[in-house]
Amino acid sequence: MELAGKRIVLGVTGGIAAYKAAELVRLLTGEGATVQVVMSEAAARFVTPVTFQALSGRPVFTDQWDPRVANNMAHIDLSRAADLLLIAPASADFLAKLANGLADDLLTTLVLARDCPLLVAPAMNRQMWENPATARNIATLRTDGVAIVGPGSGDQACGESGPGRMLEAEEILACTVAHFQPKLLAGKRVLLTAGPTFEAIDPVRGITNLSTGKMGYAISRAAQEAGARVTLISGPVCLPCPVGVSRVSVSSALQMHAAVLGQIAENDVFIAVAAVADYRPARFVGQKIKKRLQAAPPTIELVANPDILGEVAALPRPPLCVGFAAESENLAEYAESKRRSKKIPLIVGNLIEDGFAGDRNTLVLFDDDGQHPLPPAPKIDLARQLVARIADLLEKTR
Ligand code: C5P
Repeated sequence: MELAGKRIVLGVTGGIAAYKAAELVRLLTGEGATVQVVMSEAAARFVTPVTFQALSGRPVFTDQWDPRVANNMAHIDLSRAADLLLIAPASADFLAKLANGLADDLLTTLVLARDCPLLVAPAMNRQMWENPATARNIATLRTDGVAIVGPGSGDQACGESGPGRMLEAEEILACTVAHFQPKLLAGKRVLLTAGPTFEAIDPVRGITNLSTGKMGYAISRAAQEAGARVTLISGPVCLPCPVGVSRVSVSSALQMHAAVLGQIAENDVFIAVAAVADYRPARFVGQKIKKRLQAAPPTIELVANPDILGEVAALPRPPLCVGFAAESENLAEYAESKRRSKKIPLIVGNLIEDGFAGDRNTLVLFDDDGQHPLPPAPKIDLARQLVARIADLLEKTR
């Protein structure tokens, strides 16, 4: 339950994306939030208040003059009771009103009267989004401290394609959860590797390591939630890129090596989570190798891959380097010896039997202060604890 005890006012304005807001209510309440829906008049033409009432389990407000509010102060009462005001979808018209401080209905009045943070998820046609007037309004809202999530890009209800579509409900949920995380890495830049590498033998075969990428992806999400600018260099995995993280997809260790060294400058932290193949075939065979049962089986000559983490740690001004050690036995001994040989301040150890491929893991952090066990937990929780430790170490090394 990522939002247990949080009170969220969800403002829905007029746009076809209002149907996605219905799903968003389900996701927010599913994470333990109390959701109070307030709709603009236009929104109620797209989806009826009854839908939101059923999903949120609370009466929906649409009218400034609602007789249910005895003192006519719904705009004050609703905002005072909230931890977050979330507007999804936020139409071009609503953003324009917001940027100019208009308050001509319940939702705009309540936004103006708020004393809690405001998160908006714009949704509109691509030309409306690109219109200089909208760009001006968005710039004003950013200056005013309003958090803007999205919009995404792609097919639009009007049949066009481009920027302006509202983020998916899952993505807005992730942004909402991120909003409540402490900003321990604000202003920092973090580079990560995650997933396996694939070392091709011929066009259809290769050598790889077993790795789902889940731990690395969870850490990239946790670093992004903590306010860092995050770049994730990812080997081949089947995971969506966390919202707000920029991903570079690679396949082989050599590609991962080139991508990391090309991006490493200006980063404050490097976290090597990838299960990089130690060796690659010395030669790539351009055509599929044919089976010849009568002949001796083919042999594959291997050469060593570069140690990406070792090289980054040996740079003249290295970022804070964090390594991983997934071991099947003798965790403390192997992890500590890796930490020393790579000359890195922090290594994260885990026993393969504890966390491979699943959504939970058990970790031990090894640094100059000794060992810090992190008990079994979902990978995202462990990732947040690791980020907190990294923030501490950054603070110490300043
Ligand atoms: O010594 P070992 O290779 O097992 O160390 C594992 C750590 O080093 C992990 O953090 C892994 O991402 C990183 N690594 C790397 N490049 C390699 C091999 C491992 O960055 N070629």
